[in-house]
Amino acid sequence: MSGLYTLMVVTLLSVIALCVTGLALFKKTKEVEKLKNKVVLSEAREKLIENEFQALMELINQKTRELEDQRNMTFHASKMSALGQMAGGIAHEINNPLTIIMATIRRVKLLMQRDELDQESFLKFCENLETKSARISRIIEGLRVISREASGEDFKPAILNNIIEDVLALCEEKFRMHSVDLQMDYENTDFHTSINCQRSQLSQVFWNLLENSFDAIINLPDKWIRIEAKRINEHIEIRFIDSGKKLSEELQEKVFQPFFTTKEVGKGTGLGLSLSLAILKNHQGDLFIDQESSNTCFVVKLPVKTV
Ligand SMILES: Nc1ncnc2c1ncn2[C@@H]1O[C@H](COP(=O)(O)OP(=O)(O)OP(=O)(O)O)[C@@H](O)[C@H]1O
Ligand SMILES: [Mg+2]
Repeated sequence: MSGLYTLMVVTLLSVIALCVTGLALFKKTKEVEKLKNKVVLSEAREKLIENEFQALMELINQKTRELEDQRNMTFHASKMSALGQMAGGIAHEINNPLTIIMATIRRVKLLMQRDELDQESFLKFCENLETKSARISRIIEGLRVISREASGEDFKPAILNNIIEDVLALCEEKFRMHSVDLQMDYENTDFHTSINCQRSQLSQVFWNLLENSFDAIINLPDKWIRIEAKRINEHIEIRFIDSGKKLSEELQEKVFQPFFTTKEVGKGTGLGLSLSLAILKNHQGDLFIDQESSNTCFVVKLPVKTV
């Protein structure tokens, strides 16, 4: 009897234990289910965030593309205006040697008709014709380089002096006609430094700096522009100094801003310096104003080409 009783109690206890375990299992299953739901929910949230991030990235890319397009358009517009201004100047540059060529030919013809042309003078006339033709061809070469399509222009090694000479060929005559003394120390070996560059882009930077100086000093009694080159370790600093007084702090803050100009309407777009700065940054270089100089001095900083 007591055995049966014990069996009943054990069975009862087992049933109770089974129920408790079942209950605990049920609770755990519920908890797991809840957790599962939570995971699903957070996965959905993650997906949502990911989608939003993708959309945002797409928007950023689109805006970057739009900005790039705008930059190219602005650049193109400024270049067209610069080329327009340049065309007027070029006429002067070419006209002068051309006038001399024509006068020389006329003289040679006249002397020949009179039978007064000896061999020595004939050779002298020819030399003169050669130098003047070479001058025109330099001007055309400079024009060709500076107006070359910029987009996709390759970075190639070039000698600094050659780039500056291309640009000077386009404005030397104008400077001479307006009694602007152009000072450049051609013997300075740093001018013969090789740089890795987009040549036409760099020509435009130099041309803009020279034009800016010319415009700034044209009405001064003392008119000079000096170009200096100094190599400092792995960089070269090219200084464009003019006879104008150092820019006021207020002006210095503004000159690199796009569209800032003090020039009359139709003369300046106010983009020259900001685009020059962008070009130089693209060359891992820089453009800044020398604070030490008492005259206006813009410094172009470029890395030199190391083999
Ligand atoms: N050498 C300088 N001396 C005095 N002021 C200068 C000199 N260079 C630049 N500036 C000032 O900075 C302004 C901006 O120059 P920037 O080259 O950007 O434009 P811009 O010459 O006016 O027009 P753009 O170059 O587009 O034809 C000029 O209008 C001028 O006021
Ligand atoms: Mg300018």
